[in-house]
Amino acid sequence: MIVKLTLNHQEKRFDVDASETLLETLRNHDVMSVKKGCDASSCGTCTVLVDGKPMLSCSLLTVRLQNKHIITVDGIHDEVEKISTYFGLEGADQCGFCNPGMALSIYALKQMLSNPSSEDIKTFLVGNLCRCSGYQAQFKAIKRYLGDPL
Ligand code: FES
Ligand code: FES
Repeated sequence: MIVKLTLNHQEKRFDVDASETLLETLRNHDVMSVKKGCDASSCGTCTVLVDGKPMLSCSLLTVRLQNKHIITVDGIHDEVEKISTYFGLEGADQCGFCNPGMALSIYALKQMLSNPSSEDIKTFLVGNLCRCSGYQAQFKAIKRYLGDPL
């Protein structure tokens, strides 16, 4: 089945099986910045933005994404650079497994809420697992990033 969608601001057509997930479609087409972790909706590293909302690409069927706008970290390169800088400054950058999903979630939060509270941030990041940090350094980095203009 042909699915037409926008990927990182470019129109794309993918020929997919009915059971194919967006994670599979993207990685089958060399979009390797979308990470495959648990493949079971539990870790958050495969997060992409669908019409601006963070979603797990391992649990989305591509056939249901006709005409949707998909953003990966490749589509928000400048913001990812800023986020990485703050993660580095706060010592939050370790193995990097969680970084793409985390970056897209934080970026979406910044788009959706002005001046989010600490609770807002924690709520937004539920499901983005990090096995390396205790989340404290990341939390400080995220707050610094959220304080920057978009
Ligand atoms: S790979 Fe999708 S949530 Fe882990
Ligand atoms: S930095 Fe290793 S899982 Fe988050």
